[in-house]
Amino acid sequence: MSGGKAVRLDKLLANLGYGSRREIQALARAGAVLLDGVPVRDAAGRIALDPDLPARMTIDEAPLDPLPGVALLLHKPLGVTCSHKEAGSLVYSLLPERWRYRDPALSTVGRLDKETSGLLLLTDDGALLHRIISPKAHVAKRYRVTLERPLTGDEQRVFASGTLMLEGEEKPLLPAALEVHDATHAALTLSEGRYHQVRRMFAAIGNHVAELHRDKIGGLELPDELQAGSYRIMQDADIAALFAG
Ligand code: URA
Repeated sequence: MSGGKAVRLDKLLANLGYGSRREIQALARAGAVLLDGVPVRDAAGRIALDPDLPARMTIDEAPLDPLPGVALLLHKPLGVTCSHKEAGSLVYSLLPERWRYRDPALSTVGRLDKETSGLLLLTDDGALLHRIISPKAHVAKRYRVTLERPLTGDEQRVFASGTLMLEGEEKPLLPAALEVHDATHAALTLSEGRYHQVRRMFAAIGNHVAELHRDKIGGLELPDELQAGSYRIMQDADIAALFAG
């Protein structure tokens, strides 16, 4: 089946980070690019961007990387940063190196603090990103929280009230749901995403977050089998789950 938009092979591979157009021309001439097992030697030739292309094309005997329009589900470990700019260990270093050169680039869907672990989505699809983070989409996020001091019993009411103000802000927080597990463990579900929101909410009521882990976005849970530092490509069912929450 071919029906997808067609692009030049050298442009496609350059935008997936495989090298400069000149390097790709050399790869193709050397017979390193196969489509259905047959060498594609003309890098100026057009290739249909069909969804099954990564299963049909190989580069140096490895399957072609995911086409633009990809979304990833990543288990962010502690100690890595979501920003593109900051120094130190970045979430992007958990992905294949070549992916840093993709155009359109992969970006995180919102952020987690360096010292927060858990479910983080990345995509190069701007429309999808906006659908997830738009306040209108009401995609809730759930955080598992370990506290330094025992809960007092009042937190559920305060967080659900819709009146809690964070320091330096002018608008109260939207109601948030707290599920208490024991004296120092709880799950907090937020329907907005302000800067360091969970840590600041507990600080506002005199407690301190010792550990923070996001385990759910919308209806999509962090899969148990996905180890910290690992990722997988999101499938249609994952996207459906995300918006079904
Ligand atoms: N709230 C926080 O305080 N930190 C995060 O990483 C996410 C939500």
